[in-house]
Amino acid sequence: RLLIIDFGSQVTQLIARRLRELSVYCEIHPYQNVSESFLEEFRPKAVIFSGGPDSVVREGAPRPPSAVYELGVPILGICYGQQVMMQDLGGRVEGGKISGGGGTAEFGRAFVTPMGNPLPILKDWFASGKEQVWMSHGDHVSELAPGFEVFGVSPNAPFAITADQGRNFFAVQFHPEVHHTPNGKTLYENFVRLAGFTGDWTMGAYKDDAIDKIREQVGDKKVICGLSGGVDSSVAAVLIHEAIGDQLTCVFVDHGLLRLNEADEVVSMFRDHYNIPLIHADETELFLGELDGVSDPETKRKIIGKLFIDVFQKHANEIEGAEYLAQGTLYPDVIESVSFSGGPSVTIKSHHNVGGLPEKMGLKLVEPLRELFKDEVRELGRELGLPDSFIGRHPFPGPGLAIRCPGEITREKLEILRKADAVYIDQIRKHGLYDEIWQAFVAILPVRTVGVMGDGRTYDYACALRAVTSVDGMTADYYPFEHDFLGETATRIINEVQGINRVTYDITSKPPGTIEWE
Ligand code: XMP
Repeated sequence: RLLIIDFGSQVTQLIARRLRELSVYCEIHPYQNVSESFLEEFRPKAVIFSGGPDSVVREGAPRPPSAVYELGVPILGICYGQQVMMQDLGGRVEGGKISGGGGTAEFGRAFVTPMGNPLPILKDWFASGKEQVWMSHGDHVSELAPGFEVFGVSPNAPFAITADQGRNFFAVQFHPEVHHTPNGKTLYENFVRLAGFTGDWTMGAYKDDAIDKIREQVGDKKVICGLSGGVDSSVAAVLIHEAIGDQLTCVFVDHGLLRLNEADEVVSMFRDHYNIPLIHADETELFLGELDGVSDPETKRKIIGKLFIDVFQKHANEIEGAEYLAQGTLYPDVIESVSFSGGPSVTIKSHHNVGGLPEKMGLKLVEPLRELFKDEVRELGRELGLPDSFIGRHPFPGPGLAIRCPGEITREKLEILRKADAVYIDQIRKHGLYDEIWQAFVAILPVRTVGVMGDGRTYDYACALRAVTSVDGMTADYYPFEHDFLGETATRIINEVQGINRVTYDITSKPPGTIEWE
């Protein structure tokens, strides 16, 4: 296995992700935990030093134990990792911006050109004579440690790629793990091959390992998991259930704002198929009662968020002796909450989450998906036997249909909305478009319009179809349906759903729109 020593970079997890893509098993450990005895026990086959925000020229800056250089295994240092390696081994690093010298603070895109003999870890690099890389550093190496040579330079980084080939120590100034170093994965691949990894590690092995970790963390204590019916909480629940069986109880808060048949599907899948103890808290009356007459979007969100927590807490309290709360937190949530918490950003919408719950209830957290990205969670879900149709589902917001029903929410409107949405999604699936679209749904509009059906006048609701492409939901574009598809879908909705006599298609991108209507 490979050890990543984390010096605090925002993108350390991306190194792990690149390695997982290469089917190499790795673990990230913060530098504080990596002692000489830790290394003896871990026995890594290769080591990577991550980047980090500190400055190696500062007294007391993070460093690895010197024993790491005596292990006789390949080491790759990235950015801060390069600097720390150089300084430890007898080179020199200078802080900040310097003028007229060999380097300067550098952020963003740069181009590296080769120097000297080709290095094995640079196999398949420089095919076009140069490689785009992503730099992000204030300090820089100013003198190489003995044994090191330069193998790549950029206009601002005379030591962009350096190596001591005798010891298989490699040190680069840029970040090969990020998207903006397009050929970075090849560099990792060459590095792990050199270290003797064959790439035989799988998501199945990840699953086994995650199960061991959950058992170790939880022991014989009880765990509660809030199930939303979404992919993340479902994968977390099934994984935890595999680890600790009936020590897990799921609480499914049904606010009555779910899609057609959704509550039944969730309950039957978890209770009947997986045999997971499940409390189905059907609180439709409570939620719809509190939402009665409310039309302001933020007020709706706040009411739902607060009730959700109250209801969850009420049911969770019935589970005696529970000490842990499971959450399907993903890695992007972790990065966001670290880098943006308390930041000055404006609240566009109060997102529905249970962030404050653990402290309020005195529970400890189990977050078995914290290291994974969305697509990896889906892969883990497949590994756990969750059906593909479930795993590939479009995202669904916590406040549910409430935010797809602008204006006042009524049972009648919800009923109409559910039916229209089901027809629309059926159309999308039938035309083989579901997986191309990031998210699709119907919103029922708070207007009635006049129409004519048969020989009669109608006065019914208008609805809007929404379908977007997106990578992460932060930005989105509308999906360019064929006109025939739109025409056929409109006809079907009007024919099959009583209460709707007009269909529109929303072609707003995000920004300036948002994906949901509220
Ligand atoms: P917007 O409408 O903000 O939505 O462009 C971006 C993505 O987030 C989803 N969404 C939510 N998800 N709780 C959630 O879990 C919420 O309160 C919430 N509001 C919006 C939305 O469906 C889209 O995928």
